[in-house]
Amino acid sequence: MNVGIDLGTTNTVAGWMNIFGNIEFLEFDDGRTYLPSCVFFDRGNVIVGSKAAEKAAENPAAFVSESKVYMDDRKKFWEADGKRYRAEDIAFEILRKVRMTLSEKFPEEKSFNAVVTVPAKFGEDQIRRTASALKRAGIGLIEIIKEPVAAVLAFNDDSFRPGDSVYVIDFGGGTVDAALVELTGTGGVTGFNVIAADGNRHLGGKNLDEVITGILLEQFRECSGQNLLDENTTWGSARKKTRRIITDAAQELKKRLFGCSREKACAELGSVCEICGKKDSCCSGECFTAEISFDEYLSEADEIYEKLKELIMSEQVMDKRPEHVIFVGGMSADPYLRQFIASTFDGSSVIFAGDVCRGDSYLSVIARGAAIKACDENIHIVNKLLNSLGLICRGKNGMYMDPVISAGTDIDTDFEERHVYTNNGRFETEMRFEVYEYNGDPEDFDNLEYRKIGEFVFNDINPADTGKQKIEAVFRFDEKGVLTVCAEDLNDHNRSVEVSFEI
Ligand SMILES: Nc1ncnc2c1ncn2[C@@H]1O[C@H](COP(=O)(O)OP(=O)(O)OP(=O)(O)O)[C@@H](O)[C@H]1O
Ligand SMILES: [Mg+2]
Repeated sequence: MNVGIDLGTTNTVAGWMNIFGNIEFLEFDDGRTYLPSCVFFDRGNVIVGSKAAEKAAENPAAFVSESKVYMDDRKKFWEADGKRYRAEDIAFEILRKVRMTLSEKFPEEKSFNAVVTVPAKFGEDQIRRTASALKRAGIGLIEIIKEPVAAVLAFNDDSFRPGDSVYVIDFGGGTVDAALVELTGTGGVTGFNVIAADGNRHLGGKNLDEVITGILLEQFRECSGQNLLDENTTWGSARKKTRRIITDAAQELKKRLFGCSREKACAELGSVCEICGKKDSCCSGECFTAEISFDEYLSEADEIYEKLKELIMSEQVMDKRPEHVIFVGGMSADPYLRQFIASTFDGSSVIFAGDVCRGDSYLSVIARGAAIKACDENIHIVNKLLNSLGLICRGKNGMYMDPVISAGTDIDTDFEERHVYTNNGRFETEMRFEVYEYNGDPEDFDNLEYRKIGEFVFNDINPADTGKQKIEAVFRFDEKGVLTVCAEDLNDHNRSVEVSFEI
């Protein structure tokens, strides 16, 4: 069975096309069609989703959320039950939960294959990690596609014509993505080319939650005398729990503030003793009511909104004047940004996901697009390579850097680039290669942003004169949209390697 999966920072959604051609979404334990992308480590058990979120206040140290923003960070890990979990391990737990829930719903299905979405700003290393988490979870990969393309697929109708461009702004929990997608095709639209992608992987709804949390913590301090503003590792569990209650309240208040009331939102959180977890009355039963006005919120969130506006109004997009603009993601409920987008793109047709979708289903837009792709082979997607790819070749006589594919190159299905490397020292018996993803000019090494993603070594090679030993490296994007790098010793065709990527 083919499904589409949006493995989001905050929520994960899975959908498929039913026999009537409609997209349905998987219901999880709590009856909702989205699975909060979080886990709770409970003495050897890994709990995923809303049950994990419920347990968070019990032991915040055993709770992991928004791990997707660390998919590119090899140093970041969480420790539980004597094991280390990295972002891709958390992704694996979430995807395993999706697979188990699918198996319960469709016991007759022997296997599940998925189109999985990733942010437009995910590089090849993050894409590979996502693909490997999916494989470990027992789900076959059909294709990895970029989230903005999925958004366009979800809203693709007769008003979208070949030649049009669509600007997708996806403001989710942990990331904001802004991508320009060009539509191609003869007759109808069948091709989707991501021609520009910008975004911020550390800017999302959670930053606005933090702003509101700050306001509430200040209010709580005034009411209870407890200062919980600067969280630190020496805190005991009671303090952490109290802070967690206020953090949860902030998320809820944000939704209320963005909802109908807009002017002002409040939530009664109970007595200060209850919030602080004290059984005996310590505060003559005084109640804490969190309250926030839209103006107060805006003045504190000003810096975040300025960053967002700058990102949205990139020069390339403003010059291009896209025919369509789509605003998706959980944060597309934000009335302030909606107004800003509507006035900035007043000549374009603007779709606000929240207006088109009923109930919570605006959270499923990306999974809808992925599910559409999962059952339509005629949809053709071309991506521009986000980061350049290159090789460093090291031999006895030094090293050299070879740029292989530059950022911005159109990556179509089965894209391939071959380069041959020769020994730069006489009778070298070892050539070592490192695969890099980088941004910037490779000549200007000091200002280069780069990360090593894998390496391979040819040793015991037959000694040859300088330039005579030849190793060919092949960079290839398969039909799944995932990079593989292979290499072959051209002097000894029996020797070839597939690069194992660093984990
Ligand atoms: N009705 C609402 N009002 C205000 N905010 C909302 C509403 N619904 C969801 N959100 C916010 O949207 C964010 C989650 O959005 P979404 O589900 O699109 O994220 P995601 O896809 O998991 O993340 P990402 O795209 O960054 O990987 C959270 O910050 C959440 O608080
Ligand atoms: Mg998302």
